[in-house]
Amino acid sequence: MNDYPWFERGHVAIVTGASKGLGLAVARELARAGIALVIDARGEESLAAAEHELSQLGPVVAIAGDVAEGAHVHQLVEAAETRFGRIDLIVNNASTIGRSPLPALEHLSPATFDRIFTTNVYAPLHLIQHALPVMRRNGGGTIVNISSDAAIEAYPGWGGYGSAKAALEHVSRILAAELEGSGIGVIVADPGDMDTELHRAAVPDAERASLADPRDVAPALLRAIAAPRGAFVRVALQSAAVVASV
Ligand SMILES: NC(=O)c1ccc[n+]([C@@H]2O[C@H](COP(=O)([O-])OP(=O)(O)OC[C@H]3O[C@@H](n4cnc5c(N)ncnc54)[C@H](OP(=O)(O)O)[C@@H]3O)[C@@H](O)[C@H]2O)c1
Repeated sequence: MNDYPWFERGHVAIVTGASKGLGLAVARELARAGIALVIDARGEESLAAAEHELSQLGPVVAIAGDVAEGAHVHQLVEAAETRFGRIDLIVNNASTIGRSPLPALEHLSPATFDRIFTTNVYAPLHLIQHALPVMRRNGGGTIVNISSDAAIEAYPGWGGYGSAKAALEHVSRILAAELEGSGIGVIVADPGDMDTELHRAAVPDAERASLADPRDVAPALLRAIAAPRGAFVRVALQSAAVVASV
């Protein structure tokens, strides 16, 4: 039985960074709801394992690659179009915090800053830019950009990642204003702290038991996607609170 009856079976989602962590948990929920998937990640082995698992639930195309590379982003959109004929949902989940231990802004190198911004801000926008004509042909869709409380809080050492997530959030707000009336909504979602590789790399001494399991966070994201809203909404998934809606 579909736990998210508002999703139409046969709709199509692109989920980036879906080989583990939150991306895999979201892809799993979407597949269970009858959504066809295009997923990616850089590591081929873990992506193949995710593809194998998800293919037991429904149609999935997995393409290994880096969201920071334009040709790979084009492949994702083309796969959705040629294999499934439409795109209804984009979940921009893939992210990097940069190398740990996280340096203070005073010591953040231009190359690291550039890499963090390309992966967290330009790559999601690039995927959106390329997918929008396909979404418009469907008459609408949903764009979900995964953010963080680091976009708002000033955590020392998190300056590259935090400022990139803040930029992603503002890109999302402006995009929503530009897409007003198109039937395409934009959601920014802060998943809260989760026990994942990204968190382990950033905060190796964290108390793991206090962190959420991404499998428990993913259903909150799907509920947020489905809830009635304006053109833009920011949600904090672990509080299940709508923080801002326009
Ligand atoms: N974990 C937390 O506590 C937390 C808190 C707030 C926000 N978030 C956000 O939640 C999202 C998911 O994070 P997570 O904790 O689930 O991370 P994760 O477990 O480390 O998973 C990240 C996924 O993204 C893929 N990936 C990373 N860089 C990529 C790239 N350049 N191109 C394509 N795929 C890439 C990874 O696979 P490969 O490495 O093989 O590419 C993996 O599948 C991120 O946007 C993160 O900023 C997480």
